[in-house]
Amino acid sequence: MLTIKTSDLSPAQLQNYLQYAIAPRPICFATTIDSAGNINLSPFSFFNMFSTNPPLCIFSPARRVRDNTTKHTLENILEVKECVINIVNYPMVQQTSLASTEYAKGINEFEKAGFTMLSSQLVKPPRVAEAPVQMECIVTEIIHLGENPGAGNLILAEIKLIHIKEEILDEEGKIDQAKIDLVARLGGDWYCRVTPENLFKVAKPLTTLGIGVDALPKGVRNSYVLTGNDLGMLGNLERMPSDEEIDDLRSHPLVKEVLDATIGDGNNRQRELHELAKEMLAQGNIEDALKVVLMEV
Ligand SMILES: Cc1cc2nc3c(=O)[nH]c(=O)nc-3n(C[C@H](O)[C@H](O)[C@H](O)COP(=O)(O)O)c2cc1C
Repeated sequence: MLTIKTSDLSPAQLQNYLQYAIAPRPICFATTIDSAGNINLSPFSFFNMFSTNPPLCIFSPARRVRDNTTKHTLENILEVKECVINIVNYPMVQQTSLASTEYAKGINEFEKAGFTMLSSQLVKPPRVAEAPVQMECIVTEIIHLGENPGAGNLILAEIKLIHIKEEILDEEGKIDQAKIDLVARLGGDWYCRVTPENLFKVAKPLTTLGIGVDALPKGVRNSYVLTGNDLGMLGNLERMPSDEEIDDLRSHPLVKEVLDATIGDGNNRQRELHELAKEMLAQGNIEDALKVVLMEV
């Protein structure tokens, strides 16, 4: 494994490793305005939400690694403590990238990138009409992280109004993760798109207290067949099945088939049971999968 002291790297080398590893990052497409009324629009992927009460996002227009200059977005916010955070989806991604061009101060990237300005209701900077979600924010704090090239400037933006396009909502009025078509930034020029085929769910262990991977027998934890994801699903179950429940599953046709075919062949029996459990996990039948792996231990 490559182990590197961050202090041994130049800011550009460090930025490269970090941007490829800390990815994908959501994109904040920030609209700001200076005290003379000049509008600016720029994307920032050093961005996330950090609190829902108060509803707070942070993004970071950093000092340029190349020449240590600061970004117009930061300069504008120092003058007018408001912004709109527009969320970027796939149909907007090429124009969003174009808006990141270093146009001179006073140049409105809405015009350069071909986006439509939509008046905000609470703040002066306009919204991006094309964005599926637009959030009007008041900047509550600016934290400068240094004076050297690459130093971030954290903009703490409290969300006051959220505008959501109806077309991305489901029947319950919630945002449909498959419809919003989000994109995210990775290292270099790489982006990724959240497509319905790429979405998957992981059951939240919020209300449950999983037995934990450490509760599984050694032969299961060290299985050649079961992966870390498989063990994670098993460990998320709330209780061990009883001996009776395990025995009841022995008559399940697929289990019976494995047991009958491996009489006197302990090694193959365990492997085949683990393979069957893996199939059950893939089908979401986690409880039976746990019974199957506990059958021959
Ligand atoms: C998708 C994307 C994400 C970006 N994220 C950041 C970021 O988090 N921080 C940053 O300083 N620059 C980031 N940039 C570069 C800025 O958008 C770029 O420097 C821009 O010219 C700044 O504009 P401004 O000077 O008008 O504020 C990003 C560029 C793109 C295309």
